[in-house]
Amino acid sequence: MKDLVSINDITKEEIEEIFKIAKSYKERFKSGEKKFSDLRGFSVLLVFFENSTRTRTSFELAGKILGADTINISASASSVKKGETLYDTVKTIEAMNTDFIVIRHYMSGAAKIVSKSVKSRVINAGDGTNEHPSQALLDAFTVLEKKGNIEGLKIAIVGDILHSRVARSDIKIFKKFGAEVTLCGPITMLPRYPQSLGADYITTDVEEAIKDKDVVIFLRIQLERQEKPFFSTLNEYSVKYGLNEKRLDMMKDDVLIMHPGPVNRGVEIKSELVYGNKSVILDQVENGLFIRMAVYNFLV
Ligand code: CP
Repeated sequence: MKDLVSINDITKEEIEEIFKIAKSYKERFKSGEKKFSDLRGFSVLLVFFENSTRTRTSFELAGKILGADTINISASASSVKKGETLYDTVKTIEAMNTDFIVIRHYMSGAAKIVSKSVKSRVINAGDGTNEHPSQALLDAFTVLEKKGNIEGLKIAIVGDILHSRVARSDIKIFKKFGAEVTLCGPITMLPRYPQSLGADYITTDVEEAIKDKDVVIFLRIQLERQEKPFFSTLNEYSVKYGLNEKRLDMMKDDVLIMHPGPVNRGVEIKSELVYGNKSVILDQVENGLFIRMAVYNFLV
């Protein structure tokens, strides 16, 4: 396997192997081993055409911890601004004998195009509304760590399903592991044919969706992908779909509250609950580092 473009491309057994590597890195790191040499001599180019904090930083840090040389290219400071195409940009990067290209792009399918165009290993760090496979890996790893297993769990994904690459990758990974997945959002934020995403249930009623779930993943409202409004106001969205104390009380006592970040505080989740005692949002971020170290290791 050269690239990580989609959760469709990896088997459950391969994902379990990535989890095993991530767990080992996490244990060694926590016991004081802060530097590894598994990627010494490798080069990693991070090419981000969209903003990012978690994904870009953790892929860069993961590369550095493993001993790779990492370089960042942001579209705004590159020759893309002079009109260079995506194809020419990645062919130029490949010509420098780059081992890994980690790419985030606003166009669905961009990572697949890049993976077919270059010999470098390609990791999809999010392409349009299509997929965000490393986010799905760290989400599933976090659930496995907290719950001990995924098979049979009831998982709800709430919010802007229409624009969410996280939802698309999460549905695939949680279904691979035998969870039951429910999608919930305003009718305007569900795709026209939501059944095609592969979830078990679809509803617009958030209280129905969350009440018996083991895990509830709240999604960011992706205002940057909304040319026209999908609801009247952010306050209306918060009242109808946001997490508040009343909704938290309706959930199971041992529910995991997740969010891929960045959170629109007070919109998807009431500000006081973002890092509340049922939230594992910072565990997701921490695990993101070890999962990305494991993805590099798995692909070499
Ligand atoms: N979850 C996620 O992709 O966050 P960033 O946009 O900060 O990378």
